[in-house]
Amino acid sequence: MNQLFTVSLLALLMVTSCGASGETPYRELDILGELENLDVPQDDIDDDVAFFDFSSITSQFSGKNLVNLDSFGAAGDGVSDDTQAFTSAWKIACSAPRSVLLVPQGRHYLVNATNFNGPCQENLIVQIDGTIVAPDDPSEWDPRFQRNWLRFSKLQGVVFQGNGVIDGSGTKWWAASCKKNKSNPCIGAPTAVTIDSSSAVYVRGLTIRNSQQMHLSIARSNTVRISRVMVTSPGDSPNTDGIHITASTNVVIQDCKISTGDDCVSIVNESARIKMKRIYCGPGHGISIGSLGRGNSTATVTAIVLDTAFLKNTTNGLRIKTWQGGNGYVKGVRFENVEMQDVANPIIIDQFYCDSPSTCQNQTSAVHITEVMYRNITGTTKSAKAIKFACSDAVPCSHIVLNNVNLEGKDKTVEAYCNSAEGFGYGVVHPSADCLDSHDNKSIDQTQYFTESVIVGEESENAHDEL
Ligand SMILES: *[C@@H]1O[C@H](CO)[C@@H](O)[C@H](O)[C@H]1NC(C)=O
Ligand SMILES: *[C@@H]1O[C@H](CO)[C@@H](O)[C@H](O)[C@H]1NC(C)=O
Ligand SMILES: *[C@@H]1O[C@H](CO)[C@@H](O)[C@H](O)[C@H]1NC(C)=O
Ligand SMILES: *[C@@H]1O[C@H](CO)[C@@H](O)[C@H](O)[C@H]1NC(C)=O
Ligand SMILES: *[C@@H]1O[C@H](CO)[C@@H](O)[C@H](O)[C@H]1NC(C)=O
Ligand SMILES: *[C@@H]1O[C@H](CO)[C@@H](O)[C@H](O)[C@H]1NC(C)=O
Ligand SMILES: *[C@@H]1O[C@H](CO)[C@@H](O)[C@H](O)[C@H]1NC(C)=O
Ligand SMILES: *[C@@H]1O[C@H](CO)[C@@H](O)[C@H](O)[C@H]1NC(C)=O
Repeated sequence: MNQLFTVSLLALLMVTSCGASGETPYRELDILGELENLDVPQDDIDDDVAFFDFSSITSQFSGKNLVNLDSFGAAGDGVSDDTQAFTSAWKIACSAPRSVLLVPQGRHYLVNATNFNGPCQENLIVQIDGTIVAPDDPSEWDPRFQRNWLRFSKLQGVVFQGNGVIDGSGTKWWAASCKKNKSNPCIGAPTAVTIDSSSAVYVRGLTIRNSQQMHLSIARSNTVRISRVMVTSPGDSPNTDGIHITASTNVVIQDCKISTGDDCVSIVNESARIKMKRIYCGPGHGISIGSLGRGNSTATVTAIVLDTAFLKNTTNGLRIKTWQGGNGYVKGVRFENVEMQDVANPIIIDQFYCDSPSTCQNQTSAVHITEVMYRNITGTTKSAKAIKFACSDAVPCSHIVLNNVNLEGKDKTVEAYCNSAEGFGYGVVHPSADCLDSHDNKSIDQTQYFTESVIVGEESENAHDEL
């Protein structure tokens, strides 16, 4: 106990002195300040609506306009085509205020690819308690809907909720993917659920599984809250991202459990103010920003926070991936309170990302990556390089902050790799990255002390607050 205390005190002194003398002192990223209070606001959710058993109410009692899918001739047997019933029910529900579009429990509704367009009258609730399934044969898919199954657009103030399931029946799509068999053509498959050009949308409690490709995509939208959503697909299903965010702002994803064959969450171009909280991920490819900059495109991603996550058996942990030749930037990212178990590449920035059959040439431009903080990241890694910053010489990564990072391999021989990352600020880091040392010679010894204090006792955690 006494010894522990001494070590902690030592760590405290070391950390404090590092903070004072380091080139880039550890500090909060100003750009993220406004994100602190971004949460799913529980108080503006009408509890009656959230927990009421809709199967037993009639519109007269509730003040709601109940629109039951079964009243529109839906068979709900999982075999008959219920597309027409669904589109008719949507039209009615959308055009009257305070509607509840009910997908009843215990039944399976087969629905083709469909666009559900708004705007709708106010306070629409889509209550999904049953299962919605997609036709499973890609050859019969309407080519007009090449990239979408259920696409909702131009909505404002709509809630999607329930204990139901949205099932993409993706098995045949996966087999037809060029990722599965190189002789297949590389054509995109549909996204199961898309919310496009909308604002003030809630998605809560639903399960989305076996999507043809991505499970839930939030596109060109503002103010979206996703909570208690479960995504499940096999670990080897190709490109089945869990939740994908593109060109959207002010999005909170919380208490979600995602098991899939690609990124659990992916955030791409023109997205800002995204907060992820209490995320379980695995299997999958981890939490990703990117890919960005493909085909010399310009991308901007700003103000992203992941707070509290558990990643298990994923091929990456916290990843930022950009293509050579891109432009724009990723600016202001904080990953914190993350625990990993058997994760390959737990911390990775890859400015040489290349998900293409042909090799990608290095170029003189790249998406700039700056102001990225990793704090309280612990657990086990499957690969030797626990921390990997593969940044381009032309556009080096800058202002990377690491604190209280402790990643271990099974045989304890983890290393860090670093190419062209500069302007580090850091506290306790294990393994210590070579590039941290080369930019601040004095810190080499300190980094080693920090490493030991982490191994010896947790008391040193308090020291980080001093930074
Ligand atoms: C749904 O898709 C099937 C198969 O392509 C087709 O036969 C059917 O007409 C479609 N239903 C609607 C309502 O378009
Ligand atoms: C890949 O697809 C080709 C052409 O469809 C087929 O002949 C081959 O058996 C497939 N390979 C595997 C491993 O499924
Ligand atoms: C880890 O994930 C891979 C790929 O999905 C899977 O094959 C393997 O069985 C998983 N291992 C464990 C221990 O879950
Ligand atoms: C991207 O720019 C490079 C350098 O100008 C050029 O060689 C390459 O063909 C461009 N790639 C695409 C997809 O436009
Ligand atoms: C990203 O957004 C910018 C506008 O901010 C646009 O110019 C660019 O084409 C977009 N890139 C991609 C890959 O969509
Ligand atoms: C570090 O993160 C873990 C979750 O991974 C959390 O349980 C713990 O409280 C965090 N520690 C601090 C000091 O915030
Ligand atoms: C691009 O540059 C990186 C870092 O310098 C290097 O590791 C990689 O081999 C290069 N790739 C190509 C295709 O030249
Ligand atoms: C670090 O030390 C090496 C060798 O002692 C020296 O050449 C280099 O200039 C030093 N770098 C800095 C940033 O002080």
